[in-house]
Amino acid sequence: MAYTPSRNRYELLRYNHCGRSGLKLPAISLGLWHNFGGIDPYETGRRIVRHAFDAGITHFDLANNYGPPGGSAEINFGRMLATDFKTLRDELIISTKAGYYMWPGPYGDGGSRKYLISSLDKSLQRMGLEYVDIFYHHRFDPETPVEETMMALDQIVRQGKALYIGLSNYSAEQTEEAVAILRKLGTPCLIHQPRYSMLDRHVEESLLDVLDKHGIGCIAYSPLAQGLLSDRYLKGIPENSRAGKPSGFLKKEDISMEKLQLIQRLNEIAGERKQSLAQMSIAWLLKDQRVTSVLIGASSVQQLENNIQALDHTHFETAEREQINQLLNKNKDNV
Ligand SMILES: NC(=O)c1ccc[n+]([C@@H]2O[C@H](COP(=O)([O-])OP(=O)(O)OC[C@H]3O[C@@H](n4cnc5c(N)ncnc54)[C@H](OP(=O)(O)O)[C@@H]3O)[C@@H](O)[C@H]2O)c1
Repeated sequence: MAYTPSRNRYELLRYNHCGRSGLKLPAISLGLWHNFGGIDPYETGRRIVRHAFDAGITHFDLANNYGPPGGSAEINFGRMLATDFKTLRDELIISTKAGYYMWPGPYGDGGSRKYLISSLDKSLQRMGLEYVDIFYHHRFDPETPVEETMMALDQIVRQGKALYIGLSNYSAEQTEEAVAILRKLGTPCLIHQPRYSMLDRHVEESLLDVLDKHGIGCIAYSPLAQGLLSDRYLKGIPENSRAGKPSGFLKKEDISMEKLQLIQRLNEIAGERKQSLAQMSIAWLLKDQRVTSVLIGASSVQQLENNIQALDHTHFETAEREQINQLLNKNKDNV
């Protein structure tokens, strides 16, 4: 069925400046890591993407290896762009990445200029795009000089294949080093994409301060710890869940008794706030002004809609913050 986007789509969400840049990102963005690959029902993914755009989500995050099989999420998203979003390219922020294994041999993984440039060319082909808005180096590569990786990112921007560049999974120290090189090259780092949720707060130690100091935006991935920070696993492991599927990155053994008890307690606190646990988990990240956007995943329109409604209540009373912090600190060795 032909798609006509909702007319009031820009009245629903908040848009935050990405660090000290002119680019605004929606407070909630959608990632296509799981649920949009060749093994997933295409029409479900398409409904989720349409619903996201109708709700004001302008930013869609991909990577060369998303699927499975690797590359298939970009192919599927490319189909959606060609059919549903053909006239809407200027309303979209599309990102992709390279840095993990993509093809055999010495040039299909890591951080070399050879890999990054050929990988982005392939991503553009799969999505049918002339450029992406943001291109990320997906993870730090200790075997490649940082200068080489940064020069490749700079070249990609100068060639017009990406408008901005970003770093993902770089530590605070690695970020400092990369950012200094990028500044000299004249292509500033726009954004950093770290894992960040109530169950993984490593970025609070120093990365968020580094990003703030340099005016770099932060987009937090796996904000629900892949679904753990929701009611998904409170009554067992559903077959159709990420942990229930053989292809998922969340494993059954990741769901310990201790974790479930913590999640149950957090679920009760969310209930007191009249929110779902997923909503409270998203709101909890957005209370920090340094977080530009929260990058969620969803396997259904219902989940997506539930998550978007997190924006209706992002304020935390001091007592609520303290209660949650205490609970998380007490359990930090169990999660
Ligand atoms: N840069 C990196 O290295 C990196 C790594 C990982 C992810 N990412 C990016 O971050 C995006 C999000 O990651 P993620 O998918 O792990 O995020 P997430 O939001 O933590 O987890 C998403 C999963 O949680 C469950 N879920 C979502 N909303 C729910 C709700 N309201 N109620 C119950 N369950 C709910 C669904 O699981 P079910 O499928 O079980 O329904 C969904 O697939 C990815 O798509 C990708 O773009 C980047």
